[in-house]
Amino acid sequence: MARFHPLKVTDVRRETRDAVVVTLAPGDEDRALFDFTQGQYLTFRRIFGGEELRRSYSICSGRDDGVLRVGIKRVEGGAFSTWANEALAPGDVLEAMPPTGRFHAPVDPGAARHYLAFAAGSGITPVLSIIRTVLVREPKSRFTLVYANRQISSIMFREELEDLKNQHLGRLSVIHILKHEAQEIDLFTGRIDAAKVEALLSGWIDASTVDTAFICGPEPMMLDIAASLRAHGLSDAQIRFELFATGQPGHTRPRPAASVPVAPGTGILATVTLDGTTRSVAMSGKGQTILEAALAAEMDAPYSCRAGVCSTCRCKVLQGEAEMRVNHALEDYEVRAGYVLSCQAVPLGDRVVVTYDE
Ligand code: FES
Repeated sequence: MARFHPLKVTDVRRETRDAVVVTLAPGDEDRALFDFTQGQYLTFRRIFGGEELRRSYSICSGRDDGVLRVGIKRVEGGAFSTWANEALAPGDVLEAMPPTGRFHAPVDPGAARHYLAFAAGSGITPVLSIIRTVLVREPKSRFTLVYANRQISSIMFREELEDLKNQHLGRLSVIHILKHEAQEIDLFTGRIDAAKVEALLSGWIDASTVDTAFICGPEPMMLDIAASLRAHGLSDAQIRFELFATGQPGHTRPRPAASVPVAPGTGILATVTLDGTTRSVAMSGKGQTILEAALAAEMDAPYSCRAGVCSTCRCKVLQGEAEMRVNHALEDYEVRAGYVLSCQAVPLGDRVVVTYDE
């Protein structure tokens, strides 16, 4: 099964000094595959210096915009994002996996909801997709966005948000929090921390009216905001997270690990089902993850961040046990059902049976 599909770059728009918005067009045969849900992301791959790099970027267009668009912010030392910001041009072709991700809430055209979102920096990208979709598909709902940036010049989609406010009068309100720029209201200057969120929820946003809250940004900020929202009465089910992995390694190619021939009775044996094919893979032990073992055996197992964030590598443990080092992506119910992030999962016994197909 082809995991990656060609997407033609039809437009590259500079959004800020450090960010571009890239419009992509799948071929006719792949159009249905790239029919996305608001808040999802695409995983791209490209060879840099002989090594394959995979990076995920969130879709920023709404479902009714008729285009597939991602925002790519340059991160310091990031090969992919630097290349995209400096060299990517219309006519280029990128390879991407179909959209994935569960950072959204089901849309109900008859609902009159109040959504609240907190986004930091490029964390706005999936939130913008959600806002654009909800404003069109839930005409009686409204949205409050708290958007944190360093300064005005680094705000992505600033004009687009203003346009949306004007197009949907009274249904979108945006509070900009700027770290390095003074604003008329002191509360809106500085970084988003527990005290600031508390002040926002006490004086500016009535949490009792909020149906669903979305948070997208770095982990400490997300934890502070979620704790405040819970203290103001929101349940876990009302709070959706999307963690932006800042600690992704520069190169995501699997660590050198030779394919180990299966030798019954020695080491750990993983039985891996992928795309309907089952293989037995001898693991090297020493903390090798299921994903590393599958890739070392030249199975085309899916992955992107390799940091326990994106869930692209999700598989289900059918027999045996595996422990995840980190899990920023799976919900409790998925873990209870036996799912693990294979990039983080290390078998606990000497035999584990997993499938990527369920
Ligand atoms: Fe992203 Fe495993 S590859 S969570």
